[in-house]
Amino acid sequence: MEKELWSGRGAFIMAAVGSAVGLGNLWRFPYVAYQNGGGAFLIPWLVALVTAGIPLMMLEFALGHKFRAGAPKSFHKLSRSGWIGWGCLLNGFVIVSYYAVVIGWVFAYLYYSFGAQWGDNAENFFFKQFLSLSSSPGQIGGIRWPILVGLALTWISIFLIIFKGVKIVGKVVAITVPLPTILILLFVIRGVTLDGAMEGLKFYLKPDFGRLLDPKVWLAAYAQIFFSLSLAFGIMIAYASYLHERSDITGSAIATSVINCGTSFVAGFAVFSVLGYLALQKGVEVPEVVAGGPSLAFVTYPTAIRLLPFGVSFFGLCFFIMLLTLGIDSAFSLVEAFVAGIRDTWRLSRTVATIIACLLPFAAGIIFTTKAGLFWLDIVDHYITNFGLTLFGALECLFVAFFGRKILREHMNSVSNVKVGRWWDFCIGILTPLILIVSIVMNFIESVKKAYGGYPQWALAVGGWAVVALVIILALILGRISKRRFEAEEG
Ligand code: PHE
Repeated sequence: MEKELWSGRGAFIMAAVGSAVGLGNLWRFPYVAYQNGGGAFLIPWLVALVTAGIPLMMLEFALGHKFRAGAPKSFHKLSRSGWIGWGCLLNGFVIVSYYAVVIGWVFAYLYYSFGAQWGDNAENFFFKQFLSLSSSPGQIGGIRWPILVGLALTWISIFLIIFKGVKIVGKVVAITVPLPTILILLFVIRGVTLDGAMEGLKFYLKPDFGRLLDPKVWLAAYAQIFFSLSLAFGIMIAYASYLHERSDITGSAIATSVINCGTSFVAGFAVFSVLGYLALQKGVEVPEVVAGGPSLAFVTYPTAIRLLPFGVSFFGLCFFIMLLTLGIDSAFSLVEAFVAGIRDTWRLSRTVATIIACLLPFAAGIIFTTKAGLFWLDIVDHYITNFGLTLFGALECLFVAFFGRKILREHMNSVSNVKVGRWWDFCIGILTPLILIVSIVMNFIESVKKAYGGYPQWALAVGGWAVVALVIILALILGRISKRRFEAEEG
């Protein structure tokens, strides 16, 4: 089979940036920074970027580029451990099953933004009318059809973007990367010119250096970097496998990581300036309106938009177009990584592999379109990011450090301008896995002490532990199956 390739290094970097820059940059980073010392958080965050983010980005790029395959086959060739690659892909599979639902909400809100149909009480509109949220995870209460329609639209879009291969992906990211960036800047300008903006920004950036003594702040920084750079999902491995043989690896990794983090930092201005305005309008203190996650995007920000002096529909539409274009390229990157894994193993056509890789998570995501959907989304997200992702992230680092640090470092250095030294071995072999393991242990202790989110134990067992266990078991099974096939191929 002829290996497909990006049209150039620019398209590759755009696609990698598209994957990294997602909803997390807008609704996670500013909030996490605010909670963990404001301006002072920039220190652990930059340390995490340099010691974990960039080194791991290099690792994934180098792995995919060297072995010219998706995550399972690359890990197989490195150390006969394709199951690690599968674990990464399965975490991505779980995440995209609910990430796509959030994009489905955005589709619905694109429509509601005409005339700001969420009205004066955006909170009521989102939770009661739109999600029709039930009172507990056990109360499934049927499917919310507008959400299912949004989810179907999302999956159709993802399918159409990736089923023809990375040439089309390269064209799509030429829109879905610059467009949200421009819109973020639009909101920064609109935000900082509103009354109360400076008060809001103070809360975003006021440094509380005392917080740096708290190890949790440091773990939060590493977690943010991991999620934000889309690391340990096999995405960057798959994307790098479509690169020309002579392409700068380390430079691309630095560029991707720095652009992503720059976007997060700037997005904080768009968020906190508008929060300052909202607080002033409501006559409350800024901390009372601060929110992250879905509440920020679907309640707080829309509330503020409705209070704007002019252009309410325009800014509403721009805001949800921004969310859509931020999210969609992160979503299809997860699916693409899966397609690469499937095709390496079973030699299916791209179209068939894409159908499989879209239909399965679409079906799995239906649970998140029910009236209890948000509860399940919250539970699954918490466990898969705190346990699944960190576990396979640590394994990825350790296996590479053990079996292939020299091979990969030499490979990177032979094709790149910026050469990496032994510091890289230390970051991926010791520092990052250590931090990941500490965070798994701390999260575990926390989860034993207190039921996450106050949910019933059975729900946490089903949506949390069972999902993580399933990822591990399936990774081992798929690892075995693919191993046989890869070995047969090698003869
Ligand atoms: N990096 C994306 C964000 O910041 C989220 C993401 C995670 C995308 C994992 C793909 C894989 O929103």
